[in-house]
Amino acid sequence: MAGLQPLFLLTVSCCLASSARPQHHFPPCTVVQMDVFCSGLSLKSVPAKLPHAVHMLDLSRNQVQNLSQETLAHHTGFHHLKLHSNKIHFIQPGLFKDMPDLKVLDLSRNHLNVVALSKINIGPLTAVHSLDLSNNGLYTGMSDYFLSDSPVLENLSLNSNSITKISQNTFSGSSSLTKISLHNNVILEIEDGAFDSLNHLSELDLSKNSITCITDFNLSNLTVLNLSKNSVEFFQSSKSESHYKLKSLDLSENKMSYFPLLLEKNELQYLDISRNRLQSINVTGNPEYSYIFPKLRHLDMSYNQLRSIPESFFKCIRSLEVLNVSNNCLSSFSATGCLRVVKIIDLSFNSLQSLMFKENTLETLEELFLQGNNLATLHHQVFQRLPRIRHLQLQQNNLEICSSDQIHQDPAECVCFTSVRNLQFLNLSENNLRTLPANAFTNTSLKVLDLSLNPGLDMDQHSLSGLEHSLVHLLLRENNISNLNTDLSSLTSLRHIDLSTNQLTTLPVWNRESSIESLNLQNNNLVTLESSTVLVLERSLKTLYMGSNPLSCCSNLDFLHMVQHSAVVVPDIETVTCIHDEYSEPVNIEKVTQKMCHRASIQNYIVAVILTALLLMVVLALLVKCCHTRKHKHSRSFSA
Ligand SMILES: *[C@@H]1O[C@H](CO)[C@@H](O)[C@H](O)[C@H]1NC(C)=O
Ligand SMILES: *[C@@H]1O[C@H](CO)[C@@H](O)[C@H](O)[C@H]1NC(C)=O
Ligand SMILES: *[C@@H]1O[C@H](CO)[C@@H](O)[C@H](O)[C@H]1NC(C)=O
Ligand SMILES: *[C@@H]1O[C@H](CO)[C@@H](O)[C@H](O)[C@H]1NC(C)=O
Ligand SMILES: *[C@@H]1O[C@H](CO)[C@@H](O)[C@H](O)[C@H]1NC(C)=O
Ligand SMILES: *[C@@H]1O[C@H](CO)[C@@H](O)[C@H](O)[C@H]1NC(C)=O
Ligand SMILES: *[C@@H]1O[C@H](CO)[C@@H](O)[C@H](O)[C@H]1NC(C)=O
Ligand SMILES: *[C@@H]1O[C@H](CO)[C@@H](O)[C@H](O)[C@H]1NC(C)=O
Ligand SMILES: *[C@@H]1O[C@H](CO)[C@@H](O)[C@H](O)[C@H]1NC(C)=O
Ligand SMILES: *[C@@H]1O[C@H](CO)[C@@H](O)[C@H](O)[C@H]1NC(C)=O
Repeated sequence: MAGLQPLFLLTVSCCLASSARPQHHFPPCTVVQMDVFCSGLSLKSVPAKLPHAVHMLDLSRNQVQNLSQETLAHHTGFHHLKLHSNKIHFIQPGLFKDMPDLKVLDLSRNHLNVVALSKINIGPLTAVHSLDLSNNGLYTGMSDYFLSDSPVLENLSLNSNSITKISQNTFSGSSSLTKISLHNNVILEIEDGAFDSLNHLSELDLSKNSITCITDFNLSNLTVLNLSKNSVEFFQSSKSESHYKLKSLDLSENKMSYFPLLLEKNELQYLDISRNRLQSINVTGNPEYSYIFPKLRHLDMSYNQLRSIPESFFKCIRSLEVLNVSNNCLSSFSATGCLRVVKIIDLSFNSLQSLMFKENTLETLEELFLQGNNLATLHHQVFQRLPRIRHLQLQQNNLEICSSDQIHQDPAECVCFTSVRNLQFLNLSENNLRTLPANAFTNTSLKVLDLSLNPGLDMDQHSLSGLEHSLVHLLLRENNISNLNTDLSSLTSLRHIDLSTNQLTTLPVWNRESSIESLNLQNNNLVTLESSTVLVLERSLKTLYMGSNPLSCCSNLDFLHMVQHSAVVVPDIETVTCIHDEYSEPVNIEKVTQKMCHRASIQNYIVAVILTALLLMVVLALLVKCCHTRKHKHSRSFSA
């Protein structure tokens, strides 16, 4: 009966919590079925009266110092205990022995280094399969007191401690481990055979440590190894006959000068050697190791100092899907028939001068990154050889786009994009493009076209023809365009246009079919937005950037009306100012009132009336004078 009452109380306190009436004599832990949540309540122990059966207890972010049976109110039926972010520095020996169901134990962010100093094992951890000891100031040997008797432990985190060495017996009491994380320690040494007793070990995270060298790697059952952010200079697998199961190897941010040496029989699918010191790939190197990676799908060698990649290298990685060689020193790249399934190649930020794709070599390539290379001369049909290419990044180069007569010159110092049928994304910003000839992108499927930062770009009136039903985004930022003579009104799919930082004085004409949703006109020379344009835009526009234009206040009343009364959002409204004769400073467009302009028009009206009156008077005077002389004449004639 005693158990029922607290259960009732807790349920009540849970229900009352929502009606905001705290129970003073009872801490407001929340109970959801068999889970009790007491996180962040400055508790030193759990509330004395817990429900009868608790599966999960969250006591994290409290003030627990002494973890004992009392702290846990003598409950032993827990399945999951969250005790992270407390100040635990004492654990009653044998505490967990009597918790036969405890599977997940999180003790991270405590002071377990103090617990370890007492040199008493906290074990046994009879049922625990997931243990988190991260952020506890543990140094070498200290983990022994927690692991010495944990026979079913599979998942262990020792992240962010101060361990310098993994010794032979570190994991001898936890032989079921499948996943160990030792990220962010200071490991310098791993004793021979330290992981030998772990037959099931499949994932090992040693990232952010101080390991300098891996020789005779022989963890044949390991599938994931992370050695990122160490000082590894050399990685070599042992020459044993065993079959390695390693699928993912992360060696990024190390000091590798040589490609890792693996046996031919490897299962590697993912290899990251970015941010190392590779200068070359020596394919002819050590005959005992081959550069054969029969299953490699993802290879990242970005941020190295590679000057070239031997073509024969690719013969050995036929299953490659993603190749990243960005930020190296490549001056040329040629693809051979080996890259039969490659989808993404990143060659950005090298010093490429030439690019050679033999016919029928990159038939599966979908994305190609070539930005930041200073490429000037390419074979003019180079992209037509990539039948599946969808995404092309060519910004920060020096390319010219061929006009129809240039194609026939030899050599044609330009590239062609017509009939690159699957092309959807093209970035040509910062290329010093001078002209954009007619039909430059006919027979493509372009949805996004960035032509920004090509100041002085001369666009043919029909340069975008062929994109009527595909183009959605058009970017023409910072092009020094004063008059956009290209026909945009026929681009019926166009939704987003960036025309910012140009010299535009008028907007292109849009017809009723246009459905522009966002338009950036910042920083141009616009004085007036024509009423007809405003009317057309108003129907579909959602976002308009308009700041930094010399708008006239009173000739933009339609625009003002749109800003104030339609759903159009003008994010830079603070900087949208206009010029009014009566004010020396530009006026914020939102402050303009009909009256301000009305008053001006009344003045104009008065001036007009006065002028008309004057004119009338002059005419009248002339008439009178004229009649007078006539009369004179008459009288003269009579008298004659
Ligand atoms: C922790 O609690 C136990 C049981 O209440 C007690 O015997 C022990 O002295 C306490 N230890 C510390 C270090 O406070
Ligand atoms: C292993 O532990 C980590 C953190 O302690 C957790 O995120 C992960 O889900 C656990 N995995 C398994 C298989 O228990
Ligand atoms: C791996 O190599 C180390 C040292 O060379 C050796 O002590 C250990 O027994 C080897 N382990 C296996 C599983 O071959
Ligand atoms: C690898 O796993 C198999 C089966 O799980 C086991 O028999 C073998 O001893 C393991 N090898 C090592 C080196 O742990
Ligand atoms: C390896 O560890 C680093 C640093 O902790 C992490 O950023 C990276 O994602 C990990 N690599 C893999 C392949 O998971
Ligand atoms: C490639 O490796 C072989 C054998 O180790 C060596 O003789 C040769 O000089 C290396 N070549 C380069 C370019 O490093
Ligand atoms: C290639 O690597 C660089 C640097 O690590 C990264 O910024 C870029 O996104 C990667 N490219 C691809 C296509 O993933
Ligand atoms: C094109 O490249 C430039 C420069 O890297 C970048 O700022 C811009 O956002 C890119 N355009 C698109 C549409 O991604
Ligand atoms: C576009 O494709 C059509 C049909 O294949 C073809 O007749 C036409 O000449 C192509 N246009 C250009 C400019 O290549
Ligand atoms: C921009 O265009 C104006 C004329 O419209 C010209 O005087 C100026 O030199 C151009 N600036 C650049 C950077 O091309």
